[in-house]
Parts: sequence; structure tokens; C-alpha cells
Amino acid sequence: MNSPVNVKQRTSLCALPKAEVHVHLEGTFEPAKLEQWAADAGVAMPRPRERLLEFKGLADFLHFLDWACGLANTADHVFEMAYAFCQRLAADGTGYADVIVNPTHWSAWQGRTKAMIDALDAGFTAAEQDGLPPASLCISLLRNQTADEAAELVDQLVEWRHPRVVALSIDGNEAAAGRTGPRFADAFRRAGAAGLRRTVHAGESSGPEGVRDAIELLGADRIDHGVRAIEDERVVALLAERGIPLGICPTSNLTVKVYPSMDTHPIERLRSAGVRVSVNTDDPGLLATDLPSEYELARSTFGWTDAIVRDVARTSIEASFANDDIRSQLKSQLSLWSSD
Ligand code: ADE
Ligand code: ZN
Repeated sequence: MNSPVNVKQRTSLCALPKAEVHVHLEGTFEPAKLEQWAADAGVAMPRPRERLLEFKGLADFLHFLDWACGLANTADHVFEMAYAFCQRLAADGTGYADVIVNPTHWSAWQGRTKAMIDALDAGFTAAEQDGLPPASLCISLLRNQTADEAAELVDQLVEWRHPRVVALSIDGNEAAAGRTGPRFADAFRRAGAAGLRRTVHAGESSGPEGVRDAIELLGADRIDHGVRAIEDERVVALLAERGIPLGICPTSNLTVKVYPSMDTHPIERLRSAGVRVSVNTDDPGLLATDLPSEYELARSTFGWTDAIVRDVARTSIEASFANDDIRSQLKSQLSLWSSD
């Protein structure tokens, strides 16, 4: 497993200048931390430790997020998670991240989204002051919320104009919620008009029609997953023509059984068809992965050359909502990278 070649590849993928554009704070809990916080709060674990990270599918996974986030009930917990998130970026060699936070999962913070954003911001600011990489927030709706709830969140984000918040996001289970693009179109239109970027989960628990709705109804600047676009060549062509990037998460897709194996995963077919793809972790703590491992999985499965790896990393930087300084700095570092 740890042959000198593997160690060299991993080292070079850690050193690869890159951004992460599809990662949820909810998915960054470490199992040991969950055990500790559950014990502190006197809350029972949902299943034994050795089976804690066994998920039956997306619905089960999202349910677990509610339990885990329910344990983070103080500003100190939230600060600690934001700080630890930036430590994770540094360990992965990631220069910047857009991190998704979905307030619906955090039961202790209902009705206190602003206070939660402030606690997260304090953690990210402290991390940056300690020389760790910067992160911005994409505040997320859940697919089974109502149009009124979406409107309320957008009103708040627009009113607060918090400098840490760069985007409106939507995630959750489209297979369970049904077709919801029309329900959220107005909220996304108003968010875009107010200067927020838009990132949309689609084409994971929905098919290519969900990806089309993300583009045509929600004005997505970026699509989280999007992999099931591959099932309709017209949607693949639309993504390629419009240059809309996909934030792809291989291990996540395998874990929630979107694909049975990496050799059936469409990332390379999408890339070859001219779709802009980046590689991401989605939920690294709960899926027991990290960003260099995700690059390595795609690289070794599809025989990616250094030039392809560099292109994918460039897409990650260009698809990010980082400011121009961060993007140009990362891109100039990237031009010097090789795996040798
Ligand atoms: N929230 C966290 N991970 C998610 C995923 N893979 N799909 C939808 N919502 C999510
Ligand atoms: Zn996701």
C-alpha cells in the first residue's frame, strides 16, 4: 500500500496548488470528536463505534448529519470546527475553500443563523491569523424546505451582507423531495441579483433533468456533483457550452451508491466531453477521505497525466468564489507544479 511510488504520488498531490469547492462543514466531524461531544452532552451514539460511519445511502447519511450537528451547541464548538476545517485544508495542501453550511442541520442554532455565522467567522479569522488557508461560506438551503423559508434565508443574507458569506447553496435529497427547481427559482434569482454566487447540488440524487433545472431555473454558477448529467448528452453539451463547472466527489458518490465502482464513475467521460470538472471531498471526516486521496483515486483509475491533474486543479481554483488575489496567487503556484 505505502510503496515508495504511492508515497511520492501522495506527496506531490499534497503539494499540488488547488482549491476545494465542494465540501460541507457538516461532513468534517471526526468520529473521536463526535464520541467526545456525545459523552459530554450525555447523548447516546446512534450505533456502535465500529459501525458509526456505515451509511445505507444518502437519506441515512443526511439523517446522521442532523444527529452530529445537534452536538455542536455552543459558539466554542462552532469556532473549533471552523478552525479545524482550516487545519484540514493546510494538511491537504489546499490553498482555499468554499465551505457549505446548511443551518437546518444545526438544531441548537435554529433562529440564530447570524450568531452561528459570526462564530464560524471568528474561527476562520483566527485560523487565517495563524497562517492557515482562507475559507468562505456558502449558506445552504435544504431541498425539502419551502419557498417561504428560502425567501426568508435570502432576505437575511442580503440584509446581513456578511463578508464571510459568498454564496447561496442548496443541498439535500432530490430523490425524496422531488422536482424542486421551480420552488427555489425566485430565491436564487434574488440572491444572484444581490451579488451572491449560486452553487447547486444536482445530478446526484436527481438525474440530468436536475442539472438542467440547476442551470435554467436556479442560475447555478457551479454545480455540486452534477455527475448524472452524463445520462443525457444534451445536458453534457449545455454544461460544456456554458462552461459551468462541476464539483465532483468520487468517494462520496461511491459511498452513497450513485456508482458501484470507480471505473464506472463518469468524471473522465465528462472531462473528455469538455465539461469543466474539479475533484473534492464532500464530507471528508464522515467519509474518511481527504483531498489528495480523491485526486489519487481519479488519477490512478483514469491514468491522468500531470497535465490533466494540473487542468483539474486549475478548474478548482477558477471555479472557486475566492477573490482575484487568492485565485491568481494559486494559479501562478500551480504553473510551477509537477509530480516529479
Ligand atoms: N449534504 C452533505 N453531503 C451531501 C450530499 N452528498 N448530497 C446532498 N446533500 C449533502
Ligand atoms: Zn455535497
